[in-house]
This record gives sequence, C-alpha cells and structure tokens, in this order.
Amino acid sequence: MSDKKIIAVMGATGAQGGGLVRAILDDKQGPFRARAITRNPNSMKAKELAKMGAEVVAGDLEDPESIVRAFSGAHGAFCVTFYWEHMSPEKEFAQAQVMAEAAKKAAVRHVIWSTLEDTRQWVPLSDTRMPTLMGRYKVPHYDAKGEADAIFTRLDLPVTLLRTSFYWENFIYFGMEPRPGPDGKLAITLSMGDKKLPGIAAEDIGKCALGIFKEGDKYVRKTLAIAGEHLTGAQMAASFSKALGREVVYNAVTPEVYRSFGFPGAEDLGNMFQFKSDFEAEYCGARDPKVARALNPSLHTFDSWLARYKERIPVE
Ligand SMILES: NC(=O)c1ccc[n+]([C@@H]2O[C@H](COP(=O)([O-])OP(=O)(O)OC[C@H]3O[C@@H](n4cnc5c(N)ncnc54)[C@H](OP(=O)(O)O)[C@@H]3O)[C@@H](O)[C@H]2O)c1
Repeated sequence: MSDKKIIAVMGATGAQGGGLVRAILDDKQGPFRARAITRNPNSMKAKELAKMGAEVVAGDLEDPESIVRAFSGAHGAFCVTFYWEHMSPEKEFAQAQVMAEAAKKAAVRHVIWSTLEDTRQWVPLSDTRMPTLMGRYKVPHYDAKGEADAIFTRLDLPVTLLRTSFYWENFIYFGMEPRPGPDGKLAITLSMGDKKLPGIAAEDIGKCALGIFKEGDKYVRKTLAIAGEHLTGAQMAASFSKALGREVVYNAVTPEVYRSFGFPGAEDLGNMFQFKSDFEAEYCGARDPKVARALNPSLHTFDSWLARYKERIPVE
C-alpha cells in the first residue's frame, strides 16, 4: 500500500472524480492509491469513499492553499471544474487556475485537466450563426474550460488535456429524460438534426483517466478526447425504445427553439448542440471511441449503459 503513488482527485464525490476514485480502488493490483478531495469530509459520500479505502482530505477551490495541501505529495492530480454549480465562466476559469497553480506548487508529476473545446476557435464572436452569450462566449461552459487549457500549458505542467463528451447520465439527472409529447409518445428532445452526438457513461471518464495515468508519460503534454459511442438522436431513441419496451421518438428541435426553452443554461446548450452539429466531422473525428476503449476496455456503449442504468431514468 505504502509503495503506491497517490492520485489526488478533485470532484471525488461527483461523477467524473468519483469514477476515477472507484476505478483506482477497484484496481487492487494497480500502482496508485486514491486521495479524494472534498469540501466536506464528513458528508455521506465522502465517508463512503473513506470506507471503500480512499484517503479523504479537505479541499475547497475557494481556498487555494487547501488545494496545494491536498495535492502535496501526490504523483498525479485529476482536475475538473463544476460549471453548473455557479454557471459563471469567469469563476470556472479562476478555479482552473487555482488547480493549475496548486499542481505547480506541489510539483505534481502528471496532471489531467478535464476540459472541452473553446468553441470560439471555430465560431468567433463575430460569427452571427449563433448568439454571443455573457458578452464574450459562444458556449460558455465549453469556452472557459478550453480557454483554461493555456493556464496549464503556460505553467509548463506535465498535463494531459482530456476532452470529455455528453454524459448519458443527462438522461437521468439533467432533465433530458424521455418525456411525453403532445401526442402522448415519449420523446427525447435534442437539437442535433440528423448529426451524431458523441456520448459517454460518466463513470467511464474516470476509468479512462486511470488508463491515462497508468500509461506514464505517454499522454503528457497531449490532448485526448473520449467518447463511448457516436449516435444520432434517432439511434438513441431506438435504443431507448428497445431498453424501456415502450416507443421513444426523437424530437429534433432547431437550436433557436432549444435556446428559447428558458431554463437556466438553455441558450448555452442550444449553442452547444449547434456547435456539435455544425462541426460534426471535427467534433466526432476527435473522439474516436477506440481511443477510450484502449484506455478502458470496459467502456460502455449506449445500449450497455441503458441495460445497466435504465431503472434510474425518471420516465413518467
Ligand atoms: N453533463 C455533461 O454532459 C458533461 C459533459 C462533459 C463535461 N461536463 C462538465 O463536468 C463538470 C462537472 O463534473 P462532474 O459532473 O463530475 O461534477 P458533479 O458530479 O456535479 O460533482 C460536483 C463536485 O464538485 C465538487 N465541488 C464543487 N465545488 C467545489 C469547490 N469549490 N471546491 C472543491 N470541490 C467542489 C463537489 O464535491 P464536494 O461537495 O464533496 O465538495 C462534487 O464532488 C462541469 O464543469 C461540466 O461542464 C459535463
């Protein structure tokens, strides 16, 4: 146990970080042990991780010194931000900076930064195909992450930039579950037209991250993008129908309609779907599921994810 190198994990009680902590704990013969970072080591989730064998330490991105302490002595650090908790791209950028600087101070040997594309490299603010949001973003929850990549590289950190994909868990926890339409049929509502949406089981992100850490220097100073499968809305609806034993259809709405839904983040997501549709070839091309499967041989397909989690989908 004491020979094992420490991987310090941000968001350890959440989806991505939790997947990594569990992957490390499950890899009993592996070279790493998990240090779970949480704002509250006394929470139920944190206590569960401790019971499973993780070292649980306190760390809050609002207190940069606590992150330096949490990263100290670690071989690796998994860094992720929590956009939907505050919905401020500036705050997300600042929190990425806290982690990058902490990794530098603690001389961490391998950092994984969970990021996404800065869509403004494809759709500059002057491009009127989609509205500019919050003054200087096209897809705020993407752009601030992508912009923060430069913090990690500028500090010359041994970083892997890990671009993730749409979690299929959004069909469970994010209000995207199949819902009855006006005709009474269950429908999933997305704004992808007939284009493919790369998706992934959230727990597979952590498993892929473990695969990256285990490869040593192979992916240091590299960018990797991961997905479980690329599927159209119609293909996902067909999979839902099969798994739920009830017809589910795809309600394809335009990005304009999606942006007008009015819930917090609807404009951001409308722009996100438009970006993914308009740049399908590049977006999907960067996310070859073979890459993720090589890192994590148990990678879920959408059908295998549905088979495992369909009971959790809050279908009326
Ligand atoms: N939904 C998607 O399809 C999707 C796809 C790709 C990327 N993403 C991105 O994934 C990110 C969220 O990751 P997730 O889904 O793993 O998060 P999550 O499941 O919502 O977990 C939230 C975590 O944030 C931690 N946390 C919140 N504020 C913190 C702070 N100030 N200091 C330290 N820890 C803090 C919480 O830990 P404690 O409460 O224990 O402190 C908790 O573990 C977002 O930025 C989102 O944009 C989402």
